[in-house]
Amino acid sequence: MKLKDLSLKQKVGQMLMFGFHGTSYNKQVDYLLNELELGGLILFKRNITSLKQVSKLNSKISQNKKIRPFIALDQEGGPVQRIEKGITPLLSAMGFAANGSDPYELYKGAGRDLKHLGFSINFAPVADVNNNPYNPVINSRSYSDNPEIVSRYVLKASQGFKDAKLIATVKHFPGHGDTNVDSHLGLPVVDKSLEEIEKVELYPFKKAIENDANGIMMSHIVYQCLDKDNPASLSYNIITKLLKEKLGFKGLVVTDSLTMKAIWGNYSIKEIVKKGVLAGNDILCFCGKADLNEQKEIYNTFVSLVEEGEIPLSRVDEAVGKILEYKEIYLEKDLAFENNLSVIKKEEKSKLAKKFALESITLVKDKGLVPIKKQEKIFAIFPEIKLFSLVDNKENDYFTLKDFLDCNEVVINQEFINYKLIKDEIKKADKVIFCTYNVTKGDYQTKVWQVLDPNKTIVVSMRSPYDILHLENVESYICLYEATLLSLKSLVKLIYSGKFKGNLPIKLEGGNMKIIRVKDYEEMSKKAAEIIADVVKKNPKANLGLATGSSPLGTYKNLIKKYEAKEISFKDIKSFNLDEYCQLDKNHEQSYYSYMNENLFKHIDIKKANTHLPSSEGDDLEANCKKYNDLLKKNPVDLQLLGIGGNGHIGFNEPGTAFTQETFVVKLAEKTREDNKRFFASIDEVPKYAITMGIKNIMDAKAILMVISGKGKQDAVNKLLSKKVSIDFPASILHKHPNVTVIIDDAAYGDNKW
Ligand code: F6R
Repeated sequence: MKLKDLSLKQKVGQMLMFGFHGTSYNKQVDYLLNELELGGLILFKRNITSLKQVSKLNSKISQNKKIRPFIALDQEGGPVQRIEKGITPLLSAMGFAANGSDPYELYKGAGRDLKHLGFSINFAPVADVNNNPYNPVINSRSYSDNPEIVSRYVLKASQGFKDAKLIATVKHFPGHGDTNVDSHLGLPVVDKSLEEIEKVELYPFKKAIENDANGIMMSHIVYQCLDKDNPASLSYNIITKLLKEKLGFKGLVVTDSLTMKAIWGNYSIKEIVKKGVLAGNDILCFCGKADLNEQKEIYNTFVSLVEEGEIPLSRVDEAVGKILEYKEIYLEKDLAFENNLSVIKKEEKSKLAKKFALESITLVKDKGLVPIKKQEKIFAIFPEIKLFSLVDNKENDYFTLKDFLDCNEVVINQEFINYKLIKDEIKKADKVIFCTYNVTKGDYQTKVWQVLDPNKTIVVSMRSPYDILHLENVESYICLYEATLLSLKSLVKLIYSGKFKGNLPIKLEGGNMKIIRVKDYEEMSKKAAEIIADVVKKNPKANLGLATGSSPLGTYKNLIKKYEAKEISFKDIKSFNLDEYCQLDKNHEQSYYSYMNENLFKHIDIKKANTHLPSSEGDDLEANCKKYNDLLKKNPVDLQLLGIGGNGHIGFNEPGTAFTQETFVVKLAEKTREDNKRFFASIDEVPKYAITMGIKNIMDAKAILMVISGKGKQDAVNKLLSKKVSIDFPASILHKHPNVTVIIDDAAYGDNKW
């Protein structure tokens, strides 16, 4: 169908997308498609009962139409999935980012399954940067609080959907991450400068546009610096001026549902349609009540507005021309969707999704409660998950932990908490698992937390990782990012094995340091070796930053065991050590060169040429520093292993060293020489100088693993856990690094509180 062959009414129909009631091709659907010749329908959970049913429905919707309608849904993943069974599952956005592996195959798989079911538009991925920990609606629907990470995943998801020939709609422009109001319920206002939003909110959208995004969904949020008077979805300044003209977006512009309270309660239908079209939207989406009379009114109002010249036909033509172009590319002629059910069954990637889910769950901190042992008595407290935001599926089947874990359990809700039962059960239990779901300040979950004992309770946040901010003194904390069957099953596996692999993709107040508390040096060394081995397995060509001293010795022993058991190989690994003493011959038994050979290198298959330490040989130490620094810049370290000095030094960066310091010659602090004299015959023999990577080099590592053991380190642990960042305590800078794991044994932990 060509634009010139369409009547005004047909054009108006193309620019509208409505929701409807029922699960079959009923009178409402027929009216929308045949009388109004609607351009698109959107399906919700209420319209879907099975794959067979939805496939049949979509097939009917698409048959015999002059212009086939778009069929859309919100299949973001995790908490927002309209189809939960039978097709490739998608994790929540944050779950994917916590996993860290490339999610493209899953997005493509899900896209292809949806396509087989007859869908043509997916309102995903979410490009919002969740930089407000109190965001009630986005949180784990966003990939991260870091625009770079969000962009990376948005591109992968968009590409996956696109390659499955599904239109991806990046949402919610210009960004719904920094709001503490849900636009389903009210109108959020963002009061940030243009400069700020360019760096953060707009960044993932810009990247998506540069990579030929197909669609962008407009949010109902007022951005004061862009348009004080109109929400983004009705703003000419934001859609036409910013999105299209400045950022150069050429794809489909779709509104978020205009029946959401942020809009519906504040404007008349006439205002919504007029403003929406003039602002530059191509498709106006109305979901909500889906009342047919209201739908007719919207349609008729739109037609009249054009007939009366309040909306120029040229604007309508521009939008419809684009819609027809997309339909040409994305709506295939083959309508035999039913036959595709067997293809979906054969190709759906639930196994891969399971692996992703298992590796996304994050142990943020632990006081030694994880893993739980088979014989331990567990008491679980599970929130009755009520609809938190209207975007969640009303009819979701939520399971509780007891479905998968042998435990006593109580389900709590805001109306009823049986405190007596909880207190009795706690007494009987060895450990308590407290599952939370989007905790808000002072809510019923915070009240339950007050009667629990942090020393024996593992808190599991099932959606927002920020729940911990509302609960004081949590000692053991796990983030699931979604309360789905997939993630609960994975949780139970991990809680017994302890093999958590996910990393928090956001910063929690006070930094992201993941603390793992262990019994003793043995357990610390085992755990550290497991973490390093995982990096080596995931990336056999990884660059490892290594340390010396007593702390990592056990870790090296365990790595050697893993190598001997053929679990890992160092054949293509490169190593970069933190430091080396000056005034000591390279072959002296206390040089770090000798230490590394003796304690690790000679036992494994690492190539000598791939092992690097700073050199203190020759007269020109400055040149040696520069050489090592250049080498580090060329070879970014994937995982840096660290010990900590009694005075908080890392590498040999003594207190007072600038955080910007790169590789340099350092005069060792007297405390350090004193601490290390145990390796020498007397204090006089301990070198006074060393060459060390600077703090900046250490912070440049992609991930950092610190091991701390023994009573002598209690004071250091105390200072580290106080979270105060100061050059007087160099290790404190690690609070500013996005990916740090610190393993602390009981002796070093003492009575410290995190
Ligand atoms: C070692 C290093 C130092 C040590 C620290 C703790 O390469 O750079 O920072 O990690 O002095 O030493 P130990 O582990 O012996 O207590």
